[in-house]
Amino acid sequence: MTTANRPEPSAPQRSDFARDFLWGCATSSYQIEGAGREDGRVESIWDRFAATPGTIRDGSDGLVACDHYHRWPEDFDIARGMGLNAYRFSFAWPRIYTGVNGQPNQQGLDFYSRLVDGMLERDLEPWATLYHWDLPQALQDAGGWENRATIDAFLEYTDAMTRTLGDRVKHWITHNEPWCTAIIGNFEGWHAPGKTDLKAALQVAHNVLVSHGKAVPLIRANVPDAKVGMAVSLHPLRAASDSAEDQAAMERHDGLRYRWFLDPLFGRGYPEATRERFGAAAPDVEPGDMEAIAIKTDFMGVNYYFPEVIKHEKGHAPLDAKVLPTTSGEITAMGWPVSPEGFTELLTRIENDYQPGPMYVTENGSAFEDSVGPDGEIDDVQRRHYLMRHLAAMKEAIDQGAPIKGYFAWSLLDNFEWAEGYLRRFGLVHIDYATQQRRLKNSGKWYGSFLRQE
Ligand code: NOJ
Repeated sequence: MTTANRPEPSAPQRSDFARDFLWGCATSSYQIEGAGREDGRVESIWDRFAATPGTIRDGSDGLVACDHYHRWPEDFDIARGMGLNAYRFSFAWPRIYTGVNGQPNQQGLDFYSRLVDGMLERDLEPWATLYHWDLPQALQDAGGWENRATIDAFLEYTDAMTRTLGDRVKHWITHNEPWCTAIIGNFEGWHAPGKTDLKAALQVAHNVLVSHGKAVPLIRANVPDAKVGMAVSLHPLRAASDSAEDQAAMERHDGLRYRWFLDPLFGRGYPEATRERFGAAAPDVEPGDMEAIAIKTDFMGVNYYFPEVIKHEKGHAPLDAKVLPTTSGEITAMGWPVSPEGFTELLTRIENDYQPGPMYVTENGSAFEDSVGPDGEIDDVQRRHYLMRHLAAMKEAIDQGAPIKGYFAWSLLDNFEWAEGYLRRFGLVHIDYATQQRRLKNSGKWYGSFLRQE
C-alpha cells in the first residue's frame, strides 16, 4: 500500500511541542550551491567522482545544482515564509581551501558571511555544518581522511570559519554522517572518493572522529556561547528472521553501524567484539585519540530515514551480515521503508543507551515522484503524510523521555542526491532544473500552516 492510499493521518499540532522548539529545514553545500567554478572554489572529491563515468545514475554533477549560490535570497524568503526559525546548511570547504600555507580564500569567507547575514535578517537561526562530504580534491590526492594531515587541515579550516562567523553563528556541527564519509565513500565505494578498502575506511572513520574531537575545543575557543555537536545517521535494526543466525548478524552489524561511532563518542572506546573481527583492518590509534573523541558535546544531531533489516550471509563483507532491500510495504522513491515507529524506537534507544543530552533531529525526510499539476501545484501527499507521521513519532519519543529540542526536515529544496543525481527529490520546495523556478510543494505548505499555529 502506498502512503497515498492511506487515510489522512491525525495532524500533529505545534503546541504538542515546547514553545522554544526549533523548526528548520536542512541542506548541504554540494547538493544545492552550484557555482562550481566561481570565486576561487577549488575542485572537490565530488566534482572528481561525478566526472567519472558510471558513478552518478543520471550522469549529472553539482556544478550548477539549484544555483543557490546566486539565488539564496529567494530560497531564504521561502524558508522565512514557511515560518521556519532555524536553517541547517554546510560550508563548502573547497570555497575556503587554497592550498597555500593554510591561507583561506577571502571570497569564500565573504560569501558565507553574506549567507549568514541573509539568514539572520530573516530570523533563521544558522546551524552550520563544517563537513558534509565535499573534501578538497587536493587533500584527497595527499591521502584524504586516511592521512592525519587532513585532521590538521580541517582544524585550520574550522579556525577560519569560526573566527569569521563566530560572532553570528552559535550552532556548529563538525561532521555530517561519518558513516557515509568513511564506509560508503571508502569501503562500499558508491560515494566519493570511491574506494573499496576496509582498512582505509576504518582509518577514515577514526580520523574523522579525531578531527571532531579536536575541533570542539577550537570552536569553543573562537565562538562565545558556542553549542557544538555532530550529526550521525542511524537506523533501528531488525533481524530478517527469529533465527539465532540472523539475530547474531544483526548484533554484528549494530557493532559497526551504531556502536562503532557512538561508543567512542560517549567515552566507551571501540566495541571490542567488532574490533576483534576486523583484525588487521582495525584503525591505527594514537595516544590521546580516544580521549579527544570522547569530548563532551553540547548536543547530538540524529539523521533518521528508515529501519534496516539484517540477514546472516556468510562471506558478505565485512561482518557476514547483509542489509536486505525492502520490496514490500510502504516505500519511498529511494526504496526505503516508511517507518515512523522506527523513528520513535531509534530516538528512545539513543537516550537509553547514552543519555547524550539535548538531541536535535538534524535530518528526516522522503523522496517521492513529484509532478507539477496544470495549476502549478505539487500535490505531494505522500511526503506530507510522511512529515506529519514522523512529527507525531518524534512527539511520542519526547513523551517517552528523549530530550529532543528541534527538527530539521530534509530538505528545503530538491537537490543533487549524490549517486542518484537529480532523479530523487527530497525537497519541500520543487526545483525546475531547466528554469531554476522554485515552487513550494503542498508538503511545504502544510509545514508552514503547522508552524503558523499558536
Ligand atoms: C543524508 C545526507 O546527509 C544528505 O546529504 C542526503 O541527501 C540525505 N541523507 C538523503 O539521502
